[in-house]
Amino acid sequence: MQIIRNLSTLYDALAGFRAAGETVALVPTMGALHDGHMSLVRAARTRADRVVVSIFVNPTQFGPNEDFDAYPRTEEADSALLRAGGVDILWAPGVREMYPEGFATSVRISGISDHLDGAARPGHFDGVATVVSKLLGQVRPDAALFGEKDYQQLAVIRRLVTDLNLRVEIVGVPTARAEDGLALSSRNAYLTTEERSAALALPHALNAAASAMQTGTPVATALTEAMDALSRAGFSSIDYVALCDAGTLAPLESLDRPARLLGAARIGLNRTDGFTTRLIDNIAVNP
Ligand code: PAF
Repeated sequence: MQIIRNLSTLYDALAGFRAAGETVALVPTMGALHDGHMSLVRAARTRADRVVVSIFVNPTQFGPNEDFDAYPRTEEADSALLRAGGVDILWAPGVREMYPEGFATSVRISGISDHLDGAARPGHFDGVATVVSKLLGQVRPDAALFGEKDYQQLAVIRRLVTDLNLRVEIVGVPTARAEDGLALSSRNAYLTTEERSAALALPHALNAAASAMQTGTPVATALTEAMDALSRAGFSSIDYVALCDAGTLAPLESLDRPARLLGAARIGLNRTDGFTTRLIDNIAVNP
């Protein structure tokens, strides 16, 4: 596996693949890799001759009071995992390579970026869309793979690729979960043992709400019950629990089409410093 940190070396390596007639799949990440990321790598290997994984903790998608500085950076362990996973290139640019002096462009996808995480984290999806546009332009992959765990992000990227006529297949990969059902996330590293077990209330509440809706409980009632369950488990603030159209993410008041149930909430139990971890999850719900 080649570890590449500058664009000219990346372009040379990719030109070699193309000259040999090989296809390329890209897995964009911010590192702190876990089995969820490796499931993207495994899926990428089935789709292309060559796999490029990017690791870039993208400052433009973090708000001023978010965890950019604290975000786990574990490049040595990450590169060992990627090497063992058969990845061809680890693309790991520095901030100056990605955002050189004078950088002045922002990609904004309106509508689908504005609610849910977009409302809770203003500017987040502009940062995601900008860096993903750049990564797609840099690598020019045949396919790019993203986890369904960040379901709204996946929807935003699909919109971006459609609207800008980018010639890349966007592949969504199902959320990888721990045996007890918690969605794998780099931010789980922030959780204490007590928080880790309380965090299970998030997938449990989503599953209970989905079953309730499917057996006739009104959507608003099921959503309120899910939020109450999160509060009882110790989540300190709930950004949203919402039922949305599975494709457009438009909010739904009744389960009358394929839908997605999404939740985001903060947990921080018995901390003297007031630190909280924001967790997100989502599941498919069909009528
Ligand atoms: O999902 C992530 O890890 C990031 O949002 C992404 C897509 C790599 C963009 O920075």
